[in-house]
Amino acid sequence: MKKAISQKINYLRLSITDRCNLRCFYCNYWREGDKLPAPDILRYEELLRVAALAAEIGLRKVRVTGGEPLIRRGVVDFLHKLHKIPGLKEICLSTNGVLLQDLAPALYDAGLRRLNVSLDTLRRDRYREITGRDNFLEVMTGLKRSVSLGFHPVKINCVVLKGINDDELLDLALLARDHSYQVRFIELMPTGPLEEWQRYFLPMAEVRRLLSVLGAPEPVAPEATAGPAQIFRLPGFEGELGFISPISGHQCATCNRLRLTAAGQLRPCLLRERQIDLKGPLRQGAADHFLSHLFQQAVDLKAGRSFYPLEQLPPLHCSMASIGG
Ligand code: 5AD
Ligand code: SF4
Repeated sequence: MKKAISQKINYLRLSITDRCNLRCFYCNYWREGDKLPAPDILRYEELLRVAALAAEIGLRKVRVTGGEPLIRRGVVDFLHKLHKIPGLKEICLSTNGVLLQDLAPALYDAGLRRLNVSLDTLRRDRYREITGRDNFLEVMTGLKRSVSLGFHPVKINCVVLKGINDDELLDLALLARDHSYQVRFIELMPTGPLEEWQRYFLPMAEVRRLLSVLGAPEPVAPEATAGPAQIFRLPGFEGELGFISPISGHQCATCNRLRLTAAGQLRPCLLRERQIDLKGPLRQGAADHFLSHLFQQAVDLKAGRSFYPLEQLPPLHCSMASIGG
């Protein structure tokens, strides 16, 4: 008999590649040297089997991430099949948006509606400095195209970087006044050298202070499967603002997600190295009930939740791109 998974852990992040077409300076994946060889990455059939099992034991939301998921060949067909899995209520894609202007219509036809797009600046030259690539215009076109095709919600994820983009937080927030975007500001996590994190980290309280000129924010009640963002509406805004504080508001007790890395490792917590291998059993012909049991183990590990006090948060030794954000 399948054991019902605790109600709270209802969200699985599936990383489908450890590669990316950008080189964001704070994302150290591309400094790590060689990427996983293709056979080490879970195949789409394997990912679909895992997603179906996750749905069976009660996970309701799947977010497809990377690296950059849209650079993996076959991703549209994969998303189409993912939408056919019974029990999954919410399927979302996180992307840097570079390929969105071309792929948005096919993604829409595959059934996808929910998009998170990373964008840390509204200036083309700065975009190039942050990401190492000159793709700003493509991302903006992709965003506009997605909204006009009917994607909803379209969320813009902006990593706040002190001394780099803190002078344009207001402009970024105003995107949500004039469009239906949910603009979310995210605290930088220590994925690289600690000194670098210290140099660029800006606490969310400071972001909110800088944005207070926009008026009194009204909290929006989160969906049951929502992540850790605090969402607000502002007077006269078409869209919403979100604040994500993994550092200053670090709250293990409300974390509802599991992660599956591109290499098939189930990871209960972003900040802990502990992983459960799914790929091995998958490839050795494990039965569904055994794989469900491994999922349950990951949930139980999370249920302990005696995680890190803030001052002990370790630097992450692996990149966002390989864990899937
Ligand atoms: N801190 C916060 N967010 C990060 N991302 C990547 N690295 C970090 C970090 N150190 C986010 C970016 C990226 C997504 C994969 O995760 O928005 O596009
Ligand atoms: Fe930038 Fe995200 Fe790609 Fe890392 S994974 S380089 S943060 S776009």
